Amino acid sequence: MPGLVIVGAQWGDEGKGKVVDLIAEHADAVVRFQGGNNAGHTIVRDGEVFKFHLVPSGILYPGKICAIGNGVVVDPQVLTEELDALRRRGLDIGGLKVSANAHLIMPYHLLIDHAGEAKLGEQKIGTTRRGIGPCYADKAARLGIRVQDLLDEKILKQKISAAMEPKRLSLRPFAKDPMLDLHAMTEQYRTFGARLEPHIADTAPIAWRVLERNGLVIFEGAQGTMLDIDHGTYPFVTSSNPVAGAACVGAGVGPTDIDHVWGIAKAYATRVGAGPFPTELDGALGEEIRAAGGEFGTTTGRPRRTGWLDLVALRYAVRVNGLTGLVITKLDVLTGIDPICVATRYTAPDEASFEEFPYHQSVLHKARGEYDSLAGWQEDISGARSYDDLPESARAYLDYISDFLGIPIVMIGVGPARDEIIWTGAVELPRPAAA
Ligand code: IMP
Repeated sequence: MPGLVIVGAQWGDEGKGKVVDLIAEHADAVVRFQGGNNAGHTIVRDGEVFKFHLVPSGILYPGKICAIGNGVVVDPQVLTEELDALRRRGLDIGGLKVSANAHLIMPYHLLIDHAGEAKLGEQKIGTTRRGIGPCYADKAARLGIRVQDLLDEKILKQKISAAMEPKRLSLRPFAKDPMLDLHAMTEQYRTFGARLEPHIADTAPIAWRVLERNGLVIFEGAQGTMLDIDHGTYPFVTSSNPVAGAACVGAGVGPTDIDHVWGIAKAYATRVGAGPFPTELDGALGEEIRAAGGEFGTTTGRPRRTGWLDLVALRYAVRVNGLTGLVITKLDVLTGIDPICVATRYTAPDEASFEEFPYHQSVLHKARGEYDSLAGWQEDISGARSYDDLPESARAYLDYISDFLGIPIVMIGVGPARDEIIWTGAVELPRPAAA
């Protein structure tokens, strides 16, 4: 059972990094398959805090194969800085591989992302302004520049020139920006190429070899299901597919290579940026959850919007991703809140009721959660290491979620530290040794 996909089941920031980090110890390779440095993973190891934007979470294990797959968009400045920071902390980064086919975020992508958001004004998406959308747009338009192009000056220059040509109009306000000088840009990217060269590889065969010998490959998703460009709350989404199916495309493996799909969800809900959020809590309770959960973006520092757990959206995520297991993170954040609500359906202003996630944008924008109310708990649960250690009402909350969704809960996060986790034993782990 070698292929395990890990995806966000909500709007991102569910704590995937910590989960991948824990399982990576027993894995042979970790492959990121989409997104870019719009993601942010925080891992606390022995009291030390590590923040990653591009590098896969397993990097803290010396020599572990950690691949940035072809589906990821790579800002080489960010990647080289992340690698430098890891080196400075004495970590072995020999296992880091970056796909030669991954697309590069270029300086003009950042400018276009900024300008696009500014132009939208009130209607803005609230992107991370890391150039993600414009980079994926160039990929689809076949104007993208790939990691392999960094190694050939002539090709690089030609491709930059061709990619900038159709953007002349939108880049006119930045005409004097030194970042956009063709020669300087080519030079700068050649320097990145020289620094990344030892890590550049054909990453798909690396995953195949591990899978062929029945090793464990973790396919690490970024963002979350509701931010998927096809299945999320379009247009308030990212420009890639954070759903499990994209692991195949973004890593270069087939569907039959995937054996398990785990979705990560917080015990409540958060969202950064604009767009529908049917269970949003605007008042003091939302603020309390934000403070207790430290809900501020890893990448942009923006306060996250907070809300009750949305089981309508989560059931949709179970289906879209084909989840075989669920990880609930940050259960400890709900301690002291009583009662705890969960949305089990939505209502629209015309009183229409929705048990399924509505596809229509206008309905979704106005939909509000209808709640079931469950008892809370007051006890500190951060010391719980087994299901039975949890207070009865915390167990009832988890059982309610699992029953509603029809999938088992695999792990429960009860605090930020590495060991503040419960393995429920409900699902056989990809490697029994992991228990
Ligand atoms: P972009 O991915 O920067 O284009 O941003 C598009 C939308 O996705 C915005 O609402 C962002 O806030 C959101 N987004 C992108 N990456 C993340 C993430 O890692 N966590 C949460 N939201 C994200």
